[in-house]
Amino acid sequence: MELGLKGRTVLVVGASKGIGRSIVAGFAEEGCKIVAVARSEALLQEVKEECLKKGAESFDYEVQDLMECDIKAFAGKLLENYGLFDIVIHNVGGSLVSRDYFSGAEEWNYALKFNAVAAIDMNSVFLPPMVKRGNGRVIHISSISAVMLRGNPLYASAKAFLNAYVTTVGRQLASTGVLLCSVMPGAVSFEGSYWDAYVKEGHPRVADFLRHHQAIDRFGTPEEIADVVLFLASGKSSFMAAANIPVDGANM
Ligand SMILES: NC(=O)c1ccc[n+]([C@@H]2O[C@H](COP(=O)([O-])OP(=O)(O)OC[C@H]3O[C@@H](n4cnc5c(N)ncnc54)[C@H](OP(=O)(O)O)[C@@H]3O)[C@@H](O)[C@H]2O)c1
Repeated sequence: MELGLKGRTVLVVGASKGIGRSIVAGFAEEGCKIVAVARSEALLQEVKEECLKKGAESFDYEVQDLMECDIKAFAGKLLENYGLFDIVIHNVGGSLVSRDYFSGAEEWNYALKFNAVAAIDMNSVFLPPMVKRGNGRVIHISSISAVMLRGNPLYASAKAFLNAYVTTVGRQLASTGVLLCSVMPGAVSFEGSYWDAYVKEGHPRVADFLRHHQAIDRFGTPEEIADVVLFLASGKSSFMAAANIPVDGANM
């Protein structure tokens, strides 16, 4: 299927490893102009070399810690330096936040900012000009935890909030030509991931988790998530406004 993404400008926030790295590799293969954001400059430099080899029309990166910066100012600087993106992917997030459900606002706010509100803050800068232009794609990486609501309560709640944002705001945008949606991965494993260490040591948790929670009986790969993100970023997803799409190996 021809996705028609060649020459599109794409911002991927959280692009240096795991799912985000596969997403930028996918856009590189489609011949996109990529701007990647993460904290590790060494990894971003590696990703840049990989992506230029794979066919990216251009590749720039910005080293930034989203949890430690003025997000609106950063987003404004991205617009100034690169112009208004065609596609924005928000991938930063994760379950490795506090698991203490008795904790107070500080921990809950952190989980919420890391998994949802930092990206929403960036959207407050990107969405108005996209709506004015009449097109754009903004895709969040959520989690199947947002609907299964198990595992770390702070993480699951933050992703559930993110899904609610995508549904409610996505509907407001649906008739504007700007498509806001999310992908909800199930458990994905890759070199250095949370599950990778358990897989390598043959830990019984792995078989137990898969048997009880992921009917496909294996972990997903970052590429399997990236493929769906690329489809959503293309014109082929034109009727998928405000959708939260499970890509989860029949998570249960
Ligand atoms: N892996 C899974 O099984 C799974 C399942 C469901 C949903 N998800 C979701 O998928 C997304 C990616 O997960 P992943 O497992 O691929 O995560 P990961 O390996 O931890 O990668 C996260 C990416 O975000 C960047 N990042 C992290 N903190 C950042 C910060 N404060 N500022 C800027 N960049 C930051 C990381 O790069 P640096 O470290 O270089 O900054 C990295 O490029 C997350 O939203 C996660 O919740 C993952």
